[in-house]
Amino acid sequence: MTTVLAIETSCDETAVAIVKERQVLSSVVSSQIELHRTYGGVVPELASRQHLETVNPAIAQALAESGLTWSQIDGIAATVAPGLVGALLVGAMAAKTLALLQEKPFLGVHHLEGHICASYLEQPRLQPPFLCLLVSGGHTSLIHVEAQGQYKTLGQTRDDAAGEAFDKVARLMDLGYPGGPVIDRLAQRGDPQAFKLPEGRISLPGGGYHPYDSSFSGLKTAMLRLTDRLKLDGDLPKADLSASFQVTVAKALTKRAIACAKDFSLKTIAVGGGVAANSGLRQLLTATAASQGIEVLFPPLGLCTDNAAMIACAAAEHLALGRTSSLKLSVQSRMPLEKVMELYG
Ligand SMILES: Nc1ncnc2c1ncn2[C@@H]1O[C@H](COP(=O)(O)OP(=O)(O)OP(=O)(O)O)[C@@H](O)[C@H]1O
Ligand SMILES: [Mg+2]
Repeated sequence: MTTVLAIETSCDETAVAIVKERQVLSSVVSSQIELHRTYGGVVPELASRQHLETVNPAIAQALAESGLTWSQIDGIAATVAPGLVGALLVGAMAAKTLALLQEKPFLGVHHLEGHICASYLEQPRLQPPFLCLLVSGGHTSLIHVEAQGQYKTLGQTRDDAAGEAFDKVARLMDLGYPGGPVIDRLAQRGDPQAFKLPEGRISLPGGGYHPYDSSFSGLKTAMLRLTDRLKLDGDLPKADLSASFQVTVAKALTKRAIACAKDFSLKTIAVGGGVAANSGLRQLLTATAASQGIEVLFPPLGLCTDNAAMIACAAAEHLALGRTSSLKLSVQSRMPLEKVMELYG
């Protein structure tokens, strides 16, 4: 039985969780959204300072809620890449210090591997190989999960990430940040056929379109033109706009994920990242995949956006395979998923 405590501080959430055999024993997430709201984006220096204030109480809370003692924990993990360097340093230093103090192995985790592993927390039997559709605030990727730690990115966005598109479109309609959940709620009572919007396809030099890559900047521009025009007529039909936008994103993602799964003969698609919480995507992808004999898995709703349970889960998989990280491991602002194994050994 592998039990891991993990710390996630790569951006604007201070999160600590304990996971035992793909089961969440505790998950504490302290969001800094309010702190950064006045600046219209995350201020790195403020994020680091806030992580410093919050990390120790969050560790204490996660341990208390799990009902475990340190002796029952097998490893201590932290996100070490990619992310804001100052923010990552706080979590990594806290985890390394605890590892030394409690005489446990330390594991550095790649944030995106955490998002990929979040589906394990919903479906403990899931094993590679499978396809991951990673749709977050910073990424829109189709990843071939060949084995734990072995990833190949098959498709990605050429411009905005799906979550970023939700946030920018929400801003056009003055819906606040983060935009995804608000658009999702409004879309429930809107007409998805009300406005026809471009899907955003990537042309190939020899003709035709890239089967797995996506683009959301054209869709965003179309929404800008549409909202500008509609504003002249009076109040924006926000529910119809939200529903039309959401279904366009869901269709684009579904089409690419299904094509990729079929081409690589993968029978399971595991979705990860904040946009995995989107109800339109959940419905369309699940229904389309079922008609093709493909299974689709989503993380539990609360574990789609950043959290430490997914980081603990990824670390526990590596620890169970005998992998640990050096205490000398440094944090990195950027790191391709293909280099995950460099974090161990
Ligand atoms: N129900 C929803 N529908 C659509 N988008 C959503 C929903 N809930 C959250 N999101 C979006 O998810 C994004 C945040 O997800 P996440 O926390 O995974 O991203 P991130 O950690 O900022 O990015 P990355 O992991 O790529 O660095 C935001 O853009 C938010 O609008
Ligand atoms: Mg994330």
